Amino acid sequence: MDDQAQAQEGRSLFNQTCAHCHGPDAAAGQPERNLRHLRARYGSDMDDVFRSTVINGRLDKGMPVWAEVLDAKTIDAIYGFLKTVQEDAE
Ligand code: HEC
Repeated sequence: MDDQAQAQEGRSLFNQTCAHCHGPDAAAGQPERNLRHLRARYGSDMDDVFRSTVINGRLDKGMPVWAEVLDAKTIDAIYGFLKTVQEDAE
């Protein structure tokens, strides 16, 4: 699968699994949940923060644990999509 196909699949997975909290296509209203700002917020740690947050959750803040729900391929596809929608923070 090429990057574009992966991002497309990731977008669909994201909209099924994550969008009710993070907004359709990751365009969320609440700043601390805005996944279009991962690069602006974390720079080169973006990859690590994404994976550890998705795998371990942040239960105290309301972010579920996904380790037992999503396999590695699904997480990769969602990340592939999110990388295509990163924006500068306002
Ligand atoms: C039940 C609501 C909910 C769902 C569903 C959800 N999240 Fe979250 N997520 C949150 C909340 C709330 C936060 C903010 C945690 C905080 O304030 O630190 C968050 C934070 C994150 C962060 C860290 C953002 C940052 O800038 O630190 C990532 C990455 C993330 N979520 C990815 C996902 C992905 C991928 C999915 C789908 C597989 C998903 N989330 C589904 C509620 C949710």
